[in-house]
Amino acid sequence: MKKYDIRKICCIGAGYVGGPTMAVFANYCPNIIINVVDINKKRIDDWNSINPLKLPIFEPGLDKLILRCRDKNLFFTTDLEKSISEADMIFISVNTPTKTKGIGAGKASDLKWVEASARQIAEFSKSHTIVVEKSTLPVKTAETIKNILSSSQDVNSKDKKTFSVLSNPEFLSEGNAINDLQNPDRVLIGGEDENSINALSNIYLNWVSEKKILKTNIWSSELSKLTANAFLAQRISSINSISALCEVTGADIKQVSKAIGMDTRIGQKFLTSGPGFGGSCFQKDILNLIYLCNYYKLDEVANYWKGVIEINNWQKERISRIIVSYLFGNVSNKRIAILGFAFKGNTNDTRQSPSISICKDLIEEGAHLAIYDPKVEHSRINEDLKEIQNPNFDYQNIGNWEICSSIKEAAFESDAIVVLTEWDEFLHINWQTLIKSMRKPSWVFDTRSCINHDMAKNVGFNVWEIGNSSSINKY
Ligand code: UDX
Ligand code: UDX
Repeated sequence: MKKYDIRKICCIGAGYVGGPTMAVFANYCPNIIINVVDINKKRIDDWNSINPLKLPIFEPGLDKLILRCRDKNLFFTTDLEKSISEADMIFISVNTPTKTKGIGAGKASDLKWVEASARQIAEFSKSHTIVVEKSTLPVKTAETIKNILSSSQDVNSKDKKTFSVLSNPEFLSEGNAINDLQNPDRVLIGGEDENSINALSNIYLNWVSEKKILKTNIWSSELSKLTANAFLAQRISSINSISALCEVTGADIKQVSKAIGMDTRIGQKFLTSGPGFGGSCFQKDILNLIYLCNYYKLDEVANYWKGVIEINNWQKERISRIIVSYLFGNVSNKRIAILGFAFKGNTNDTRQSPSISICKDLIEEGAHLAIYDPKVEHSRINEDLKEIQNPNFDYQNIGNWEICSSIKEAAFESDAIVVLTEWDEFLHINWQTLIKSMRKPSWVFDTRSCINHDMAKNVGFNVWEIGNSSSINKY
């Protein structure tokens, strides 16, 4: 049996997954040359930026790794052909968004980029290549990749192209990606060819202990990724559903979370109530699971998981309704400061951020939003909200938004502050200074339960906090 010696790696897709993952690989495997390729030239230029270093994604600890490894054994390039042809192992880390049209629209993942990557690998690779699925994919995608690759194997050619396909799903959580990659709970490798599995496993063994490396068949690996994300999302929908109950019964969601989390069978993590889960994975993966269940006529199972998404959408909508109702049922022409646009703290990613739908609701109600986020690019916010400029809306009654560079600027002359992302900066706001520049009565809606409520109340704010009915000062 042949052992594979991995000297060169290619990663297709220099995004939130490909970039940090390869930076950690490069750091722990100085003898392996890693080329990260992307069709987006601007992204590659940003990865290669020097003075100033302006990486395309914000991730704590990433800049240090990039500075240590870049141009030594880690390279960012648009030269796909060369990177593929030289690689012994290729990671596919391209995006797989939910389809917006055609068969499975709104549920299935759009695999056109994965298919394109497989075709490029088939065309440019030269010898035996191990192809690793890193993108989150529907179960049985490996089959498609294998079919595309095997159809390129020309028995008469002098190039002896052979392939093996592995599934190695990513479990990193944005904002904590480097730590998750350096200290994973487990590394999952699914596949059939033992030598290829061992070749990938040997790379991880440079920094991960053997007992954390789990080897499964390829379908189990693909399904485990979807299931892990579905379970995590389900916990958030569960706690969010209880937050609404807390608000009407007088219980406090933080106390309930703590009490149930101390049961070791439940555990403490992922029990923080908020404005609903966002990010590129949770909703997409549950939709994939639903699609798969429907395909296999498991409609009850599909409906069970559908509930997780329905509660998530409901949570976002109910927060918008609460804000409007406390502002005397009318936000038309009122200025509302939005603090946080990223889908969680410590990232500049806004994909599926609850802030997008809550902001849209408020704009449609006629509010003028003053949005501040410490890391999200202004152009990104404008892009996310631009659909609001829908010709069907009555412009007379629709508000607008502006993007601010500080909390102070956003709060100036506003009626309310809505905290939507748990940035550290929001934990230490000086409420006394802020209230002076605001209209009265002044409101704070804390959807992340992260600010200093006592301080805000003491200086005269009306404070609404998720999952806590006693938080309001006065009307
Ligand atoms: C990843 C996973 O791959 C996705 O399945 C998961 O659900 C979310 O995380 P991510 O790294 O977050 O995707 O996506 P993104 O930041 O959009 O990066 C993907 C990159 O692939 C982009 O920079 C895009 O330009 C690039 N790409 C896409 C290619 O280089 N080639 C293509 O053919 C398509
Ligand atoms: C998730 C998974 O955690 C990761 O394993 C997978 O590989 C990709 O998807 P990510 O989306 O980056 O990672 O972030 P995560 O920390 O899981 O948060 C997702 C969303 O849930 C965020 O909007 C976050 O604010 C929300 N959340 C998380 C809560 O509302 N409450 C919690 O207790 C935890």
